[in-house]
Amino acid sequence: MNNAAAPAARLDLPAIQSLAAADMAQVDALIRRRLASDVLLINQVAEHIVSAGGKRLRPMLVMLAGQATGQVRADHHQLAAIVEFIHTSTLLHDDVVDESDLRRGRSTANAIWGNAASVLVGDFLYSRSFQLMVELDSMAVMRLLADTTNRIAEGEVLQLLHVRNPDTDEAAYLRVIERKTAVLFAAGTRLGAMASSADAATQQALYDYGMQLGYAFQIADDVLDYSGDAMALGKNLGDDLAEGKATLPLIHAMAQATPERRARLRTIVEQGDTTALPEVLAAIADAGSLAYSRARAVEYADAAERALDGLPDNDALAALRGLARYAVERGY
Ligand code: IPE
Ligand code: IPE
Ligand code: MG
Ligand code: MG
Repeated sequence: MNNAAAPAARLDLPAIQSLAAADMAQVDALIRRRLASDVLLINQVAEHIVSAGGKRLRPMLVMLAGQATGQVRADHHQLAAIVEFIHTSTLLHDDVVDESDLRRGRSTANAIWGNAASVLVGDFLYSRSFQLMVELDSMAVMRLLADTTNRIAEGEVLQLLHVRNPDTDEAAYLRVIERKTAVLFAAGTRLGAMASSADAATQQALYDYGMQLGYAFQIADDVLDYSGDAMALGKNLGDDLAEGKATLPLIHAMAQATPERRARLRTIVEQGDTTALPEVLAAIADAGSLAYSRARAVEYADAAERALDGLPDNDALAALRGLARYAVERGY
């Protein structure tokens, strides 16, 4: 007799998308409806970034967490729209901070309309998300999202403190990505479960899943910044180095390098020297830093899947397990 449990099923991306499609269409319609303002520039900037799409991964997580733990209702759609509004506002702000000029395959809003317009429309989307939240009239939802957005802001500032700092190590890096990225994933999956009236243990399992997934997703993003295809990614490569942002591949390469090379890499980080990208890529290649980073991402993806163990299995749970793989295998 075989005591080992059968490996849990994982859906692939097309199956995940089709499972979420009907709900995502409703979320998209809601996002479009609630973007509107009678200030023309707000509509222009918000439309520019929203109509470019993006993967809509965070709202999909809300939907799938909701489906996995109960019945999806209008509240789920509203929560998904809220999470995507928060995400979009952070992207508008992030591209100003990072001085990025390509996002979702388009010129960034800051490249077209300037920094002031991007920051202010980011604030509009942010505060619109709070209007949507209040409509749900749930103190638990507001508390979670207030805490989450506050943590994201902390993460962004913490990251700023590490800019051009060659002493940034893996532990410091992980503290930043927990706040700037993982907490919003975790909030999304917890909100999905909350809106399905799941019990506390189930909410916590979904929260843990989202947190681990968020780490995996951001590490993969940081690998793609060195190794991806800009066309597919819709973002320029090398943005992190240009900003003097030491992410996991570079942190690993610095730790592994010979003292001479380490000194050189430290200078490059201190200067945010874009012309040094080939040199950094060589150091990353020699140290196997992309493979190391991918393996770390896979560890987080595995932990995300494990967080779901013990929940009653269904298609949406298989989709969440599939998304954990997708987060680390994606090319964009
Ligand atoms: C970009 O997030 C910011 C990170 C946390 C890496 P996404 O890669 O989900 O961006 P879109 O929404 O698909 O454009
Ligand atoms: C994600 O970090 C920032 C946010 C959480 C908004 P990045 O700076 O790596 O994101 P991209 O690569 O510009 O999308
Ligand atoms: Mg950025
Ligand atoms: Mg990035």
